[in-house]
Amino acid sequence: MSGSALYETFARAPLAFDHGEGTWLVTDKGERYLDFAGGIAVNSLGHSHPHLVAALTGQAAKLWHVSNLYEIPEQRRLGERLVEATFADKVFFTNSGAEALECAIKTARRYQFVKGNPERFRIITFEGAFHGRTLATIAAGGQYKYLEGFGPKVEGFDQVAFDDIDAAEKAITPETAAILIEPVQGEGGIRPVPTQSLKRLRQLCDKHGLLLIFDEVQCGIGRTGKLFAHEWAGVTPDLMAIAKGIGGGFPMGACLATDDAATGMTAGVHGTTFGGNPLAMAVGNAVLDVVLADGFLEDVQRKALLLKQGLAAVADEFPEIIEGIRGTGLMLGLKCVMPNNKVNMALRDQHLLAVPAGDNVIRLLPPLTVTDEEIGEALKRIRSGAKGLTDAIAAEAAK
Ligand SMILES: Cc1ncc(COP(=O)(O)O)c(C=O)c1O
Repeated sequence: MSGSALYETFARAPLAFDHGEGTWLVTDKGERYLDFAGGIAVNSLGHSHPHLVAALTGQAAKLWHVSNLYEIPEQRRLGERLVEATFADKVFFTNSGAEALECAIKTARRYQFVKGNPERFRIITFEGAFHGRTLATIAAGGQYKYLEGFGPKVEGFDQVAFDDIDAAEKAITPETAAILIEPVQGEGGIRPVPTQSLKRLRQLCDKHGLLLIFDEVQCGIGRTGKLFAHEWAGVTPDLMAIAKGIGGGFPMGACLATDDAATGMTAGVHGTTFGGNPLAMAVGNAVLDVVLADGFLEDVQRKALLLKQGLAAVADEFPEIIEGIRGTGLMLGLKCVMPNNKVNMALRDQHLLAVPAGDNVIRLLPPLTVTDEEIGEALKRIRSGAKGLTDAIAAEAAK
């Protein structure tokens, strides 16, 4: 696909999919792949989920877009449902995760501004974080590989080591406005933040008048077996960015806030043309219908255990390929011994799709609707991939 009219920004696999059915993707040549990449944690309900297809096509036949100049009943309804299900009192809808983060960052700065602390604009973040690719979110993520060549880094982000809460406390200055963290780092290599650390961050924010911002763009919407990952810790933020899974494949995101945190977000201070449009809202509501149905999240927890136990057995059998399993829910990582891209290719040869992440990890992010049989099939394919790599190492050694 290279040499095309498109920016060369993506290292694409030489695969083009024609359609999807649940956890399966079918190429234009009719080959079937088991999809444990899930569009990078986006296809929360798999491909072509009948309830989502009906919601989208039903809305498409009625009304696509009117802008936020007018009332959008489906937007109001989705906002109310998110408020009902979370810590939040207010919601702003966006088109992507990065925009949801931009909204959270702006909301935090504006909060301090209207509370009479305009000098407080800095935000503390953590190494290995990923918050998006806009100028502000690459500064928040702090990763050199994403910042290089993009001019002066947006001012106002102070980064400390992953899970180093003492360092976070030391980094607080009279200019600090907020602390921003992914409860489970995704791109950084599937690294859950310990409950105790999230609790300490909450205490630090309360003590110093800071806002706590959670980025649940990847780990939210049922991915960890609760609607939001932070629920496991019993800690609530003041602001939260979500995206990916809430749209099930339709581009959308949202920034959730408490009433107090949203104090500064008054008429005219922020906006979006497309965010919260009727198509996205119809799909978002349909995703919640399924994820919030009785027993759905409990079943995600059960299936996650099945997958994790199976993966641990594969890791035990092939320690020269997989060093260990990390993560929680259906957000699991294989910590690789050999380069993760090589392992990923071996899985792809088995027609199993996964996603490389930082820290030499392979991410497994199947749809939350994955079946027990599909989990069994994925484990079989991961085992075959690992065996193939082990055999290749042995053959090389025997030369
Ligand atoms: C935790 C997290 N935050 C933010 C983003 C950015 O989302 P988007 O790519 O929709 O802008 C991502 C995307 O991978 C993410 O994983």
